[in-house]
Amino acid sequence: MSPATMSNAQPIQSGKQLELRDVSGTLRVLCLAHDQRNWSRVGQATAVGEDGTERKVFIKQMCDRGGAWHRDHFEYECQGAAVATDLLGSVARVPQVLFRSDEHMLIAIEWAEVVPVDRVLRESDGAAFAAMFPEALRSLRAVLDTLFEAGDRRPELNRKQRSYESRGLAVNFKGIDIRNTGFGPRTNNREMVIFDFGKPYTAPIEEAAAKLLVSVGLLNWGRPTSRFLKGPDASLVEQAFEQWRPYTSSAAIEAELALQNRFRFQEFQGGSRLEAVLKSAGVRTLGARYMRRLGRLCRRLN
Ligand SMILES: Nc1ncnc2c1ncn2[C@@H]1O[C@H](COP(=O)(O)OP(=O)(O)OP(=O)(O)O)[C@@H](O)[C@H]1O
Ligand SMILES: [Mg+2]
Repeated sequence: MSPATMSNAQPIQSGKQLELRDVSGTLRVLCLAHDQRNWSRVGQATAVGEDGTERKVFIKQMCDRGGAWHRDHFEYECQGAAVATDLLGSVARVPQVLFRSDEHMLIAIEWAEVVPVDRVLRESDGAAFAAMFPEALRSLRAVLDTLFEAGDRRPELNRKQRSYESRGLAVNFKGIDIRNTGFGPRTNNREMVIFDFGKPYTAPIEEAAAKLLVSVGLLNWGRPTSRFLKGPDASLVEQAFEQWRPYTSSAAIEAELALQNRFRFQEFQGGSRLEAVLKSAGVRTLGARYMRRLGRLCRRLN
């Protein structure tokens, strides 16, 4: 579906309040801070229920950087979160969707104190990352095991056929990515928090493993430029491959690399036209080199 053209949706904004209605009632959401991402607008908010109870929530609205609304993404985000809550609750913490507003294409999700894996890599010292990374790989192995076990039990999900050999079907999500996972202080940094699932579907288990593996290879992508220039970290990719080996296949990894290549060179949204042009030039030069290195690195794994 193309971006919604007719919509009453209002973008959330720091300091502004929105009144939302769904089948369960009314919710007033006071946005405390917001951040415009490429495809969505996210924020921290106080949600006030009909009985006056207040709660800190994470809000996400399907309004992209160019101001276009994406009702299809909104539906997928709701479906993905519901399937993930159902399946992954025993192996990870999946923040619950508390409220959905179809009118404003907004979901309010319980707040999770979480520092995503890629932020630990970029913003803390190497020791903190080294202490956390093996735990992240183990947690994601348990996630893969669970998605594989559930593969045949979800006939209602859209099933994607792939041409390569497979050990069997698994539940998968468009947003499965190590950068959509992290740990937080609430569980003493032991229990993994996973978010941003996106569209749920079934596909060979190798696809889920390949998406995660390539996302490990992309941990140095983007800012800061010093990391981008270094290219993918071979040691991290090798550790991930070792941990997820029972589910990997070179054909699935090649397919995921091809997908990321297409995707990364298409998406050049900037705050302004100039920013978009500069971003595009950077991605074309540094990014092309990065992806070639990641391809070579993945082909050496065995
Ligand atoms: N329930 C939550 N509570 C607190 N913070 C969250 C929660 N869910 C996500 N976050 C934080 O917000 C950031 C952005 O969220 P998310 O990954 O859903 O958006 P995104 O990747 O920008 O979305 P898109 O894929 O639509 O561009 C995450 O990296 C994480 O740090
Ligand atoms: Mg995300």
